[in-house]
Amino acid sequence: MRRLGLLVLLLLALALPSSAQTRVMAVTDLHYLAPELYRDSEGFLRALRAADGRLTQWGETLMAALTAQVLAAAPDALVITGDLSFNGERASHEALAEWLRGIEAAGIPVWVIPGNHDINSPSPRGWDDDGWYPAEGVDEAAFRRIYADFLGPVTPGANLSCCAEVSDELWLAMTDVSYYAGTGQTFGLFTAGHAAWLEDTLRRAAEAGAEVVTATHHSLEEHTAFSRDSYLMYGHETMAALTARYGVRLNLSGHLHIQHIVRGEGTADAALEAFCVWPHRYALVTLSDDGSLTYEVRALDEAFLPAGFGEMSRDWFYGVSADKVEESLAESGLDEADVRSMADFAARFNLAYFSGTLRADDPVWTEDPAAAAWRSAEGVFGRYLSLVMGEAGGEHLYLRLP
Ligand SMILES: [Fe+2]
Repeated sequence: MRRLGLLVLLLLALALPSSAQTRVMAVTDLHYLAPELYRDSEGFLRALRAADGRLTQWGETLMAALTAQVLAAAPDALVITGDLSFNGERASHEALAEWLRGIEAAGIPVWVIPGNHDINSPSPRGWDDDGWYPAEGVDEAAFRRIYADFLGPVTPGANLSCCAEVSDELWLAMTDVSYYAGTGQTFGLFTAGHAAWLEDTLRRAAEAGAEVVTATHHSLEEHTAFSRDSYLMYGHETMAALTARYGVRLNLSGHLHIQHIVRGEGTADAALEAFCVWPHRYALVTLSDDGSLTYEVRALDEAFLPAGFGEMSRDWFYGVSADKVEESLAESGLDEADVRSMADFAARFNLAYFSGTLRADDPVWTEDPAAAAWRSAEGVFGRYLSLVMGEAGGEHLYLRLP
């Protein structure tokens, strides 16, 4: 009797569909710099203070924490949507590939596409105390060799695009739209070659009954009118029409450095905040048994970081923004206290906007006298603020596509 019961259970288990749940972890814009190119260099810290809040000087700590996070989450794959390196240095790519090999050795496949900083960069550099010196960069062939373990077979005409068959149920169309035929180009371009490759991939996936999530470095949709031209890929309408036609629900992008989701009629474009800035975000994409697709953004777990790291990183990002704004107001004729409160407002506002948590109608912003001062101020930040105030809101950390 007992044996019969076990047999029934076994038959029931066989009759149930196999678990269709697939989980993918995504990060973007690591802007990793090999330690040999900056270690103990005051010159590099000066350069970083003038940059955008990236915490490159802590690259080893961040990569160790990311590795621990990936192993703890144990996704079916890790995907990185470009700007792997600081500025395309060969040494950075080689050292990063070592980190990624460590993740693959633990049984988690890694897939990458390059961003606009990775190939034929005009400024691969290293730093010593006197400032920067030229470092060796990479061309497409060298990139391909270094990341061979994390790229699939490449189709001519579609750069380094490849299809990652993460599971029977979920494929990732890693769509490399970065334009690096010349040196120093930053734009993205979806060409006829990309369209032919992507359509073929989508058709094969449909035949195999697999869901496709696309991944690009540049944006598929307009996230902010403030800097539309430099972030949105050329040919985005063609790609969006194609993905909508094949029912692609989600595109993972980077490049913008801002956490921001655009959910339109067709494919939602989820721009992930750059990993190199506080709060060091990653996303988890889950295809569930019920067919729903979720995108959930988290920050690196503090348990994987040294004590006080989060606060230090936030202060760094805040300080870089505040210093820049104070500098820009130096000649404005405003008194020192006003300049400081406007810079404080701008830096806090920027942090919230970048991390996808800004609620522009929150009284913390609307009732701060610095907001009014900014609106009446001339200059780039005043325009940026007015525009972002008008655009910001909505949910940018979580998306569920039924
Ligand atoms: Fe980029």
